[in-house]
Amino acid sequence: ERADALPRDLVGRKLVITAGGTREPLDPVRFLGNRSSGKQGYALARVAAQRGADVTLIAGFTTELADPAAVDVVRVKTAQQMQTVVRKFAPDADAIVMAAAVADFRPATIAGSKIKKGANEPDSIPLVRNDDILAGLVDARTAGEIESSTVIVGFAAETGDEHGDVLTYARAKLARKGCDLLVVNAVGDGKAFEVDHNDGWLLGSDGSEAALGEGSKALLAGRVLDAVVAVFESASN
Ligand code: CTP
Ligand code: CA
Repeated sequence: ERADALPRDLVGRKLVITAGGTREPLDPVRFLGNRSSGKQGYALARVAAQRGADVTLIAGFTTELADPAAVDVVRVKTAQQMQTVVRKFAPDADAIVMAAAVADFRPATIAGSKIKKGANEPDSIPLVRNDDILAGLVDARTAGEIESSTVIVGFAAETGDEHGDVLTYARAKLARKGCDLLVVNAVGDGKAFEVDHNDGWLLGSDGSEAALGEGSKALLAGRVLDAVVAVFESASN
């Protein structure tokens, strides 16, 4: 879609969008990370800005991506830094979209100097949980620290397994997180990570379920933003 053909339906709206993966340091030269490219979050930020939104993009590590035009980009490294920055911008946001791949765990301690190989078998690496930024936003909204009208959107990449399929896990995740919308990507078989196309579903806390189908990340971004606009409009009626 050409930018000049897009609706200007986000004028006056503030969007906070996260993208990319966090890296959790182990020592000065090593980290735990993930394969997130950041492309979906960047596409969301670019399309939202083209539709007139005032966008803050909070980016972890990504493949080399140009900063989207007319978007404020804040770089973070770890999940804890991402949480601090998200919470700083959240009180002013009309919508928060958590497209980032946030590390679930971090090493319990960060060695001050490079961990040496030594002569023996290696130690295990103790991990601790990172806070769930998305669930924390929902809790903050419930507690009145973030406006009740703020729309909160989560992402989920699911493979399904012998206990349940992608949609079963996704519905449970939406309920657990308490967000308004959950964008579900079916992953595995080379899908979603490091590719330019996605397919999946958009689940709403109102019970709605829409197939997103296959399409570019820009097209998918447009569909997600359409759903955010629909929540804005349902709240103003
Ligand atoms: N998320 C977050 N903070 C975390 C982990 C995840 O805000 N510490 C957000 C992601 O940005 C995404 C959503 O939560 O929007 C779902 O992430 P996902 O990893 O699919 O969910 P988890 O609850 O971590 O479950 P899983 O065990 O499947 O990893
Ligand atoms: Ca996770």
